[in-house]
Amino acid sequence: MNSYVTGAVIRRLREAKGMTQEELADRLFVSSKTVSKWETGKGYPDISLLEPLAAALGISLIELVSGDTVRNKNRSANMFKGEFYVCPVCGNVIRAVGQAVVSCCGIMLPPLEPEAADAEHEIRAEISEDEYYVSLAHPMSKGHYISFLAAVSDQGVQFIKLYPEGSADGRFKISRVRDLYAYCNRHGLFRLRV
Ligand SMILES: [Fe+2]
Repeated sequence: MNSYVTGAVIRRLREAKGMTQEELADRLFVSSKTVSKWETGKGYPDISLLEPLAAALGISLIELVSGDTVRNKNRSANMFKGEFYVCPVCGNVIRAVGQAVVSCCGIMLPPLEPEAADAEHEIRAEISEDEYYVSLAHPMSKGHYISFLAAVSDQGVQFIKLYPEGSADGRFKISRVRDLYAYCNRHGLFRLRV
């Protein structure tokens, strides 16, 4: 994550658009020398120019600032390749079907990389009729707990929010589910392929 737009990002996006420094400068009512300064790290665009700069480069402001552009070509996205994002400040949970640049509470959130469950975060899935009963033997104290469970199929995501002092378990319809997830607020995201 960048704290502010970088020259390398401006250059890369400008060149991808097939624009010259002069053309970009004209659209922002600055000189080409100014654009050159930004791109070589000798100055930053004023904050009032960020929105017009993003517009001129054909991307959103958040993509410009993150330096991460999103191009989802395949709109019938593969559900299994979606990503979870968790805000460390407020605990918000976001699931994206495709690529995204996500921010919450003023910070950019990286997609979580699920790990295979270790002993402390072992995800147990028992079948009872048409459901998975999913549980973990994990602390559920205020500072360390499983904050959600999710079950992902090729058609959608089932999601269960958990709370400290509650129990680390939940039930999901088995229907086409392939991946079960558990998120620990201290240790991150764990996945079990079923
Ligand atoms: Fe944990």
